Amino acid sequence: GRTAAVVPAAGRGERLGPGAPKALRDLGGAPVLVHAVRAMCQADEVSLVVVVAPPESPDAVRAMLASAPLPAAVEIVVVPGGANRQESVRLGLAALPEEVDVVLVHDAARALVPAATVDSVVATVRAGAPAVVPALPVTDTVKRVGRDPNRPAGAPEPVVDTVDRADLRAVQTPQGFDRSVLAEAHGNAAEGLGGEGATDCAGMVERLGRPVVLVPGHEEAFKITRPLDLVLAEAVLARRET
Ligand code: CTP
Ligand code: MG
Repeated sequence: GRTAAVVPAAGRGERLGPGAPKALRDLGGAPVLVHAVRAMCQADEVSLVVVVAPPESPDAVRAMLASAPLPAAVEIVVVPGGANRQESVRLGLAALPEEVDVVLVHDAARALVPAATVDSVVATVRAGAPAVVPALPVTDTVKRVGRDPNRPAGAPEPVVDTVDRADLRAVQTPQGFDRSVLAEAHGNAAEGLGGEGATDCAGMVERLGRPVVLVPGHEEAFKITRPLDLVLAEAVLARRET
């Protein structure tokens, strides 16, 4: 079978502040999305990338990618996205041809994921795992707070307890899946049968009761979310180019 990557890139990027949709913002001379698509193309097995564009601009995104310096050997398809990430991924999955049997789902916002991380996710799916997620240990101490609806806005938050971070992992993308398992998870969510509130695809697979495994993620696969992340991404790129 063939390995494809679905790249959800339809978000506004509200936390990055005002401006173009996050995937179209400049990062070191090229849009964030071009970096993310290039990272998928550099993986050994990926021969198709489905980009899920902001719903109002699939044509502009198609034209932008057609003129970007990307390897010609990898097919690139652009479809319009939906109102939330889960819907955008579902629309991307719907564009996959029959012969695809392994699917990566990769946030455009994780633009600088190294190819070796992508390859290790694909290899672990090919070795028989239905769902594979790159992850890193959590380095911050994490505390749980109480939900008190009567606490005045801006008042200090009371701590309930400290979570044992040895058992916690921060997950990244690309998440890799056996295609039929991911399709089942998304089908259930679309029909209201479970997984609707999941914040990642692997969470939807967990609700099917199928095993999800972790492989080592990479620091450079961090998600560009807030303005400081863009500063960090520029620095990572500059370090690569020297
Ligand atoms: N995404 C998407 N469709 C949506 C919302 C999000 O394809 N309706 C994508 C984003 O483009 C991004 C990925 O999902 O690549 C992860 O989402 P996030 O980092 O939250 O991006 P945004 O939703 O764009 O940012 P924000 O939440 O700050 O608005
Ligand atoms: Mg978001």
